[in-house]
Amino acid sequence: MAQSKTTTSIPVNLYRPDQPLIGQCLMNERIVHPGAVGDVRHIILRLPDKSFRYIEGQSIGIIPPGTDSKGKPHKLRLYSIASTRHGDHGDDRTVSLCVRLLEYAHPETGETVFGTCSSHLCNLQPDDEVQIVGPVGNSFLLPDDPNATIIMMATGTGIAPFRAFMWRMFDEYHADYKFNGNAMLFFGIPTTANILYRNELEYLQDLVRTRLTIGYAISREQKNIKGGKMYIQDLIADYSTVLWHLLQRKNTYVYICGLKGMEGGINEALSQAALEDGGANWAEYQKQLKKAGRWHVETY
Ligand code: FAD
Ligand code: A2P
Repeated sequence: MAQSKTTTSIPVNLYRPDQPLIGQCLMNERIVHPGAVGDVRHIILRLPDKSFRYIEGQSIGIIPPGTDSKGKPHKLRLYSIASTRHGDHGDDRTVSLCVRLLEYAHPETGETVFGTCSSHLCNLQPDDEVQIVGPVGNSFLLPDDPNATIIMMATGTGIAPFRAFMWRMFDEYHADYKFNGNAMLFFGIPTTANILYRNELEYLQDLVRTRLTIGYAISREQKNIKGGKMYIQDLIADYSTVLWHLLQRKNTYVYICGLKGMEGGINEALSQAALEDGGANWAEYQKQLKKAGRWHVETY
């Protein structure tokens, strides 16, 4: 029973922007609850055939229809794949995304602006066509070791690749190998109503019990010890001694996905834990982790 990378070659750039694959919307579901901040969708795209392959942790490019303000075709936007290689229907014919609708007030006019590609995706109706490119990414992937410890840190839609990881690791229906290791998920979201995939997380937690630890940092409902917003880095600070010790084991792998802003705080928390453990140097240690393919970051 082997794992993701070595047994399967990593499929990359099977479809390029000059000849994208045309998929179709199979499902577009709002996955935040009443009272949540903003809109986030789970979108399942149907693939026309099995020519588009991908593995957990990769991303795809989506080309929005139409042209930009200069009359040129829109450029592609990247989205992390939220499903396992077999897709949510288990038939290798779908790919799923977790998309936040970008919405902000124009800095000068104050008008509400919606992001081009995220609106295209979030407004998809069943059977609408979608231009797909990729897949891309050859490092943010699960390790081959079926006994590894997987540490996942996500904010918002950064949960997407981890949804794929967790179904792959813990649910036999999605996996053609046996994962025996443990995982921890640290998840930063603004409100309880914003906990993405909450039912699935609870299901997986019940399924594997102590093998999966989940912690939430709910920024607009909880406070950190300084009385400020509870961010994921505050949660990492709470667990930093445990994490630092886990990182001494060669089969512990860290994955960070979501907002760029979380990285600094995560490093600070682990620097502190390293210092307290006989004055170890986190920056040096992290370099080695990166070199060994044990520290992966995909922030945007
Ligand atoms: P655009 O129309 O491209 O608008 C974005 C632009 O709006 C910004 O460049 C900025 O100029 C402006 N802007 C944005 N916010 C403000 C503001 N507050 N004030 C003023 N101007 C502002 N997104 C997901 O939802 N889910 C994912 O899984 C996901 N995965 C990603 C993976 C990778 C590797 C990368 C690089 C990005 C990922 N993204 C993901 C982000 C995604 O690629 C798009 O950037 C996002 O959806 C916005 O694209 P858009 O076309 O809707 O916005
Ligand atoms: P907040 O928006 O309260 O400041 P979403 O993508 O659903 O908005 O979730 C992103 C989460 O990450 C929110 O809880 C958001 O908090 C939080 N966040 C915002 N900025 C940072 C940062 N610099 N570091 C860590 N978390 C952040």
